Parts: sequence; C-alpha cells; structure tokens
Amino acid sequence: MILKNLKVRLAINRFKSRQEIESAKSTFIVTVEDGATILQALQYIYECLDPTLAFEYSCRYGRCGLCGVIVNERPVLACTAFIRTAEINIKPLANLPRVRDLVIDRTLLDAFLKEHGIYFAANAGEAAAASGSVNTSPDFKPVMVPGGLVKLSGCLECLCCHSACSSLDPGGDKLENFAGPYIFLKLAQLHLDPRDHVDRKDQARRFGIEKCLSCKGCYCPQGIPVYREAIQPLLS
Ligand code: SF4
Ligand code: SF4
Ligand code: FES
Repeated sequence: MILKNLKVRLAINRFKSRQEIESAKSTFIVTVEDGATILQALQYIYECLDPTLAFEYSCRYGRCGLCGVIVNERPVLACTAFIRTAEINIKPLANLPRVRDLVIDRTLLDAFLKEHGIYFAANAGEAAAASGSVNTSPDFKPVMVPGGLVKLSGCLECLCCHSACSSLDPGGDKLENFAGPYIFLKLAQLHLDPRDHVDRKDQARRFGIEKCLSCKGCYCPQGIPVYREAIQPLLS
C-alpha cells in the first residue's frame, strides 16, 4: 500500500487484555495520500510498522459496521472517515468491554438481546416468554412495512451510538438499568414491525428509556435519526 503527501501523527490507545485497567498509547508518524481513510492508516501501521496492532474491519466500504473507533473524541467508521488533520487520537469505542487495542467485545450486547427476547421470532410465544411482556395473541395479516422501520433498517450495528451515549455505564455493564440507543433501536425495529406481538414499549420503559427525555442527543455516523425514529415511538 502506498501512502504519501500528508504527514500525520496517530496516537493509538493500546490494551493488551480485558483485565488491563491502565491504557498505554503508541504513536506513529505516517505519510498519507490525500483522501486516505483512518482504516487505511491503521492497515499501513499494521503492515509496515507494528503487526501487533489489533483492530477490526471487513467490508472496507461502510457496510459491515465492524470498524467503529473513536477518532479525536468522535465515534466513526474507520473505513469511511477521511484523514483531515495532522494530529489524530484513536481509541476503542466507549461503554463496551475491550478485548485488545481497538477491538471491543460485543458479546454482552448480543447476550442482552437474547436474554430479553429482543429479536423477531417466527414463534411469537418464544420472544414473548423471554421478554416477559405479551401484547396480544398473534394475528396474521398482510404485512405493510412502515416508513420508520425502513429508516431504522439502515442500521449497520456499528455501536457508534452506544459509544456516544453519556448515560451508559462506561464499563459496559448494567444494561438492565439503562440499555442505551442501540438496544432501544432494536426494540423500535420490533415495535414498528407489524409481525411482532411483544410489548416493546414496556420493555423500553423497564430499561430506562425515560432518561432520554432530558437528553434527545443520540448520534449516528450513518445519519439515522435514532431519537426521532426509534426512541420517540417507544416513548409515545
Ligand atoms: S443507529 Fe447508527 S450508530 Fe447506532 S448502531 Fe446503527 S448505524 Fe451504528
Ligand atoms: S437520547 Fe441521550 S440518553 Fe437517550 S440513548 Fe440517546 S444519547 Fe443516550
Ligand atoms: S470495514 Fe465494514 S463498515 Fe468499515
């Protein structure tokens, strides 16, 4: 990979294991081409300067949601974030346990979704039993997809919104007290889906959504209006 033109100093938070409390930083000077992305800089560092640097990605064009990191205090997708300054600080996404360097652990959120039945089940009784909130018995009518659900279906599950929410527990735990924007978005997707028959508003209330009334400040690098399209329908 050839990178040239702009000299950039990247300070990257390093963590060797999830037990490590104190973080260290590694600093790299790289020369990048105009229009280079944060992911390209990370790949260059991995290939040419430090093969121990850990970070995640797959698609490289903003589809898989795997490359979220915090760049100069803002959660972004590394593959679509262009390098625009000569001083760049990169950290792993916040409010989630860390695995190593820029890699975060998503399993806590996946386990939470599963434990509380926050998924669409062809067998409505299964998700309802897991959620503890049954609305009505299922009926089977032709399905019209609401506009709000179409907007929410653009979610890449990158967790940048989860990282940016200041009401979450920084350690990534205690989701039962306040579940955060990603979980609320998942609940809203189901709430707006005419095939779902679980009371998702009740679940959202139990997971602290009323706290959002004094904030309304969700952030999504994909431009999904999380507060308006996901949180408000659950609060109404
Ligand atoms: S709502 Fe936006 S920030 Fe949150 S997970 Fe989906 S795409 Fe990422
Ligand atoms: S409205 Fe504020 S508190 Fe609620 S999920 Fe969004 S960022 Fe977090
Ligand atoms: S690598 Fe897939 S979204 Fe960035």
